[in-house]
Amino acid sequence: MFQPNHYDIALNINRETKEISGTSTITGDALENKISVHQKFMTIQSVTADGQAVPFTFDDQSEGIHIDLGKTGETTVAIAFTAPLTDSMMGIYPSYYELNGEKKQIIGTQFETTAARQAFPCVDEPEAKATFDLAISFDEHEGETIISNMPEVKNENGVHTFDTTVRMSTYLIAFAFGDLQSKLTTTKSGVQVGVFATKAHQANELDFALDIAKRSIEFYEDFYQTPYPLPHSWQLALPDFSAGAMENWGLVTYREAYLVLDPDNTTPDMKMLVATVISHELAHQWFGDLVTMKWWDNLWLNESFANMMEYVAIDAIEPDWHVWEMFQTSDVPMALQRDATDGVQPVHVQVEDPAEIDAIFDSAIVYAKGARMLVMVRTLIGDDALRKGLKAYFAAHHYGNATGDDLWAALGDASGMDVGAIMNSWLEQPGYPVVSAKVVDGQLTLSQKQFFIGEGKEVGRQWQVPLNSNYDAAPVLLKDHEVVVGDYAQLRQASGKPFRLNVGNNSHFIVAYDDTLLQDILDHVDDFDSITQHQILQDLQLLAEGRQISYGTLVPLLTRFADNQSTLVATSLYAIAGELKKFVTPGSAEETQVKAYFDQLSAGQVARLGWQDRDADSLDDQLIRPTVLSAALYAENPAAVAAAHDLFTANRDHLESLPASTRFLIIRNEVKHFGSATLIGDLLAAYRATSNASYKSDLTYAVTATTDPEQITRLVGIFEDTDTVKPQDLRSWFYGVLRNDRGEQAAWDWIRTDWQWLEDTVGGDMEFSTFITFISRIFRTPERLAEFKAFFEPKINTPGLTREIQMDIKVIESRVDLIEAEKSAVTAAVAEAVK
Ligand code: BES
Ligand code: ZN
Repeated sequence: MFQPNHYDIALNINRETKEISGTSTITGDALENKISVHQKFMTIQSVTADGQAVPFTFDDQSEGIHIDLGKTGETTVAIAFTAPLTDSMMGIYPSYYELNGEKKQIIGTQFETTAARQAFPCVDEPEAKATFDLAISFDEHEGETIISNMPEVKNENGVHTFDTTVRMSTYLIAFAFGDLQSKLTTTKSGVQVGVFATKAHQANELDFALDIAKRSIEFYEDFYQTPYPLPHSWQLALPDFSAGAMENWGLVTYREAYLVLDPDNTTPDMKMLVATVISHELAHQWFGDLVTMKWWDNLWLNESFANMMEYVAIDAIEPDWHVWEMFQTSDVPMALQRDATDGVQPVHVQVEDPAEIDAIFDSAIVYAKGARMLVMVRTLIGDDALRKGLKAYFAAHHYGNATGDDLWAALGDASGMDVGAIMNSWLEQPGYPVVSAKVVDGQLTLSQKQFFIGEGKEVGRQWQVPLNSNYDAAPVLLKDHEVVVGDYAQLRQASGKPFRLNVGNNSHFIVAYDDTLLQDILDHVDDFDSITQHQILQDLQLLAEGRQISYGTLVPLLTRFADNQSTLVATSLYAIAGELKKFVTPGSAEETQVKAYFDQLSAGQVARLGWQDRDADSLDDQLIRPTVLSAALYAENPAAVAAAHDLFTANRDHLESLPASTRFLIIRNEVKHFGSATLIGDLLAAYRATSNASYKSDLTYAVTATTDPEQITRLVGIFEDTDTVKPQDLRSWFYGVLRNDRGEQAAWDWIRTDWQWLEDTVGGDMEFSTFITFISRIFRTPERLAEFKAFFEPKINTPGLTREIQMDIKVIESRVDLIEAEKSAVTAAVAEAVK
């Protein structure tokens, strides 16, 4: 064992020859004569200990250099190495872009989870914190900029030296260089904040991010009662980026789509997304960077927390955005859906192998469920105790590491509650309960049981469920299997309101009300606030997915909410309506009826909102407009199709300037109904030419909707053309074609035939397994299920893919069963609704 204290790292990077060479000089404490340091894909030239050459071996299997020091104690180990600069979006890597027709690149880094070892030999584990001195030289041209975690202190003969870092983990080291532009500002407390991007962007595209970053840091300094400890906080947009964003301390990196945006043509959704990504990464500057999880099994401590704080922060600095509604419509359903499949992992999960570490970054579990778990704690203890607890937690563990128990202890002390006992039931167990509320012999009775979608093995799990009832007689926590609340008639009389659980939808469970209680709720549904209405739809949909009620009963309910003007309700309504599509075969008479149903649902809102953004629009109006227009277009409503066509024709020569809120729909409509090879060619050319990430994603969405088999073949043909489709964007192209009824076969054939290419290209990527997840969202027939199994079952032992393959087989199986069981009920209900 070797415990590093300080690193002196010298790197020389040559973009021309794609070579990295350097030395990593590590001073630390050797607990044994023989030590190991991480490396991957390197050639090690020499190793010295306190200046003397020592014997060593290295290999990629163990990702290590094994050194015989011949002594223990304080030692300075110097390792000289060379390494390749590869296009893997991991380690030190180039990002490509074009400026005025010229091909250019930015060199950047991505080290989490285990890629720092590809950049310099190091003890690459979160607990091995040390200070770092970085000196970097490269084939530098006039006017290029280099940035890192800390400010540059010296530039001598092209060697850029950065100030010594604070004590930190290797996975948070970062640097980047190239032809960059930037915008800078300063927080109230004097921290320099900056946004950096390539010059392919207009300068004003950096403004929004700069403002959000500055105010987020100011918010966190106040909320955490702990200063931001570095002189600067840089935000950098990289043209090639595997994840969404990365919280490197002092130099946060982002996908371009999540940092730069055109302030003159964007949507409220895009602004909220960019803002929450920034506030997520900046939350990590404390939670993750200042205090780091001890080992990757406690990854949730980083990610669940940042995922909650991103909403807390944006809600505080932009209260009018009602950003928690986005949590309700994105994170909450994702968590409830995935966590209901038997075989899902708990939030806290044991992990050793590097390939498995990346696989636990599951957006539905570690992010969405974990955040919801913490929202539950926040609701339970309140913000005062939360802030007090966090302040103590930072003070106790700063520049060090922590576990979940450390956090529960701090929050427990601050609140006087046994937070750990409550939370461990959620943290350590997979799944969540459905709480049944029933009137039994006049007594209002509650009981809990694990909820499953698809086959699930009942093993008697129980949770400590914060009930948040609107009846005071109900307990704060349901700890047992069952509890009797009291005489229902009396309680109902005293309250004057229908009985409800999980008010605010902040606890991770769903409710199955018996007929009496449900009818009471539905009789008063118009009196409830939008979050309650959204929650009623959400819980009923899950119960239908879990086959506890018939899917057909949802149909008339949707009709009742069709004209509701809340984003929350409209989003959940169209999410359910969208699920109805899976019950009908493309091109069938039943599908025509589902389309008619969409037309009926959307007609009122389309008439109310129209195609043009208006000054008088509320935020809800702006958010709902694309949803209802999309429904009308799916319904092939002739007026909607014509309106979109007219807008396209009028703006044919400057499509990018169409309003971002409807641009994707207008172009897609054109491709679907008025498409030609020339049109697709023009759109692909526009795709290659633009640096506007939001326009690019609109074009992907539009082009992949083509119904022409030749054009489908053409699109699949560009999947491997990395000059057109960047590997970071391949998943959305693949998914676009796969979910197109006319493209499904071609996309499925492609991924099976070229799996090896895919693995070679993006296999090291932390989000690789989501290619499989996406397929499981689409497949719905017994034939596809069989093909899926035939292809993926032999791959089940691939590190990092095992759980995903097992889960996705279950997901498709349960969908196939659901359709078989419910198809006739659904089509009958739809036929009845449109009669
Ligand atoms: N630390 C992660 C990035 C990451 C994920 C690195 C997986 C290595 C493996 C970062 O803080 C993060 O959570 N990014 C999200 C975006 C975020 C706003 C939800 C991502 O990349 O999806
Ligand atoms: Zn994160």
